[in-house]
Amino acid sequence: MSFDELPKFHSPTRLAVLLSGSGSTLKNLLAYIERRELDAVIPVVLASKECLGAQRARDAGIETHVHDGVLTGGALDTICNAHNIDLVVLAGYLKLLPITDRVQYRVINIHPALLPDFGGRGMHGQHVHQAVHEAYTQGKVTESGCTVHFADEQYDTGSTIIQMQYPIKETDSAQDIGDCVFELECKAYPRAIKLLIDRNADANTNE
Ligand code: GRF
Repeated sequence: MSFDELPKFHSPTRLAVLLSGSGSTLKNLLAYIERRELDAVIPVVLASKECLGAQRARDAGIETHVHDGVLTGGALDTICNAHNIDLVVLAGYLKLLPITDRVQYRVINIHPALLPDFGGRGMHGQHVHQAVHEAYTQGKVTESGCTVHFADEQYDTGSTIIQMQYPIKETDSAQDIGDCVFELECKAYPRAIKLLIDRNADANTNE
């Protein structure tokens, strides 16, 4: 089984968005969908705790579940089946996800750095940008960026779908790096989702 053997996605592609924080990535994806730049719908959002992102989802009229305990594979499968989900999109989701057969090759994540560097447990948000900034001041790196990758059952180790680079400027603070990387993320995630939608369509042209 590989990504290319997944059944044909629905049209529009059905995304479940999982988050733990402000929902900035959800907001960006909704804007792309609204502008018809992404042929997708988000019928369900799952939050690992009550947060601004969950509220944002409710405000957008999306069915929203807050699941603050351990999310079992069974619970995830039930939600995905109930909403005919094609892709599970991690959008600032801070927990590890069980990768069941139902969601294998269907879970993607965005990380605000160029993996495999600056990833792993605890490496999220400003922690990442501070570490990158420190490495820059020590002459160890010259750029940052973002990585969209398939999620596996560890933090930030699944295979890469796309990366986008940001050349760090001498005057950049960690916050500046974070802001510029987030601008890139806003392009990279929809681009990666489109890429997967197209790849799925190509794989299903001879059915
Ligand atoms: C994004 O910057 C992404 O890199 C990471 O989570 C961030 C979004 O989280 N995976 P939030 O919406 O700001 O909580």
